[in-house]
Amino acid sequence: MRITLRALTDEDIEAHNAGEDEHTVRWLNGAPGTAETTAAHFDSLADNARAERGKRGFGVCLDDHLAGYVDCDPDVTDGLEPGDVNISYAVHPWARGHGVAGEAVRLILEYMRENRIGTRAVVRVDPDNVASVCVAEKSGFIYVHDFTSGTDRHPDGTRQPVSGLGRPPGITGAEYSAARQARPGRTSVRTGRAGLSGCAVGRDALE
Ligand SMILES: CC(C)(COP(=O)(O)OP(=O)(O)OC[C@H]1O[C@@H](n2cnc3c(N)ncnc32)[C@H](O)[C@@H]1OP(=O)(O)O)[C@@H](O)C(=O)NCCC(=O)NCCS
Repeated sequence: MRITLRALTDEDIEAHNAGEDEHTVRWLNGAPGTAETTAAHFDSLADNARAERGKRGFGVCLDDHLAGYVDCDPDVTDGLEPGDVNISYAVHPWARGHGVAGEAVRLILEYMRENRIGTRAVVRVDPDNVASVCVAEKSGFIYVHDFTSGTDRHPDGTRQPVSGLGRPPGITGAEYSAARQARPGRTSVRTGRAGLSGCAVGRDALE
């Protein structure tokens, strides 16, 4: 099984949109993509890649088949600190459960490190989204804080409460493990809490 990241083109629009299901819409998009909105999204990613700024997004390929999407966005500020870079990901239903998201996160962190984008990677995720919380925690992200989103809203218009996880920058995996054991308080997201609709998890991208 070979997992790679690559730029998305118009030829990927159909497969990208077909890979969205109710989980992607509920936890990530808010609405399914159309041919037009996805084309505009891919164009904007290509512009950002050329300009080396803003959201950088990639198709995630499993053995050369488009199997998901991952991006990093230094322009997201909601609930985040200076230097934080928001990471988002989705895996097409047929490819889930094989470690694709975990490897995509590893690859986007590598990309951020190589391109000096930010100092901490952060995942903002609904604590009820157990799969995504697992991906983040298995990828070494730890709980940072709960916060109320200033940008994300429930369908009824109410503001979303959010919580977050973080990872101190500039330490090795071994040091991080030791610190994590010694750290007082929470290190993981409490999933499934009624009323909480988001959280963020973070880790150092420059390790
Ligand atoms: C979240 C999502 C990306 C996970 O993709 P995936 O490729 O199936 O995840 P992985 O196989 O890499 O799983 C990574 C770890 O999380 C665990 N995990 C994944 N899905 C899980 C689930 N539903 N329940 C419990 N654990 C889960 C895996 O067991 C794995 O741990 P392991 O290495 O110990 O086995 C996928 O379910 C998805 O696209 N969901 C909709 C979009 C979304 O929620 N995006 C995130 C928004 S913040």
